[in-house]
Amino acid sequence: MSQPPELEVLPDAERLADAAARRFVLAANAAIQARGEFIVALSGGATPRSLYARLATEPFVSSLDWSRIHFLWGDERCVPPDHEAGNFRMARETLLDHVPVADANVHRIRGEDDPAKAAVTYEGVLRTVLRTPNGPPRHASGSRLDLVLLGLGADGHTASLFPGAASLRTSAQWVVATYDERASMWRITLTTIVINAAVEILFVVSGAAKAAIVQKVLEGPRRTPELPAQLIAPTAGRLVWLLDAPAAAELGRVSR
Ligand code: 6PG
Repeated sequence: MSQPPELEVLPDAERLADAAARRFVLAANAAIQARGEFIVALSGGATPRSLYARLATEPFVSSLDWSRIHFLWGDERCVPPDHEAGNFRMARETLLDHVPVADANVHRIRGEDDPAKAAVTYEGVLRTVLRTPNGPPRHASGSRLDLVLLGLGADGHTASLFPGAASLRTSAQWVVATYDERASMWRITLTTIVINAAVEILFVVSGAAKAAIVQKVLEGPRRTPELPAQLIAPTAGRLVWLLDAPAAAELGRVSR
């Protein structure tokens, strides 16, 4: 049975990045100590840039054995790996180029390929890394993501799970291709099946522009599939929402 979501509000974006970096390191060291590896799915967009940049500085660089971390992505835009809109390029520039990762453990989504093919390929990569060649994610150690980082779009999307999309209804696929109408772009995304099987799911949300959607998702009526972020509910793991004060401004229950 999953625990209720944990909510932490930080005063500003800088301390939000710090708090997220500390949680990343805690989750990583716990997994590495228990199993010798840490399997994380990175989020994209603008918000995590400051988290990744923070992880690439001390004391975080020296706090981890980076060679033991498997880097996956929660979603990717269907663009080449060096495209400025790509989530892989953003993570490479802000983090991966600055810490001693093992190149073989960086598993990017091949956004340059045909979207349907890229989704099938990535599900194979994910199943290999999670040692689950077929069937649903298992909760045995080593067969589930240790940490999934997520952001929140102003329309309630997370990863590339967009309101009303067919990707929200899949019953078996771990990775699907989905068309982002707003940006007129194909994307590849993990589905709730594999996200919700994670040990820990960490939303990192910043800025006043997200205050209204944060309140709707966390305190409003359940309105899926219009609000895909409400579908994120770990089956046996932890769900943590890390917000800065501007993003939390419309929440009724945060003590000030
Ligand atoms: C992406 C992300 C997406 C993002 C939200 C918030 O590839 O863009 O996966 O889900 O987390 O859209 O984006 P910002 O952090 O840029 O507001």
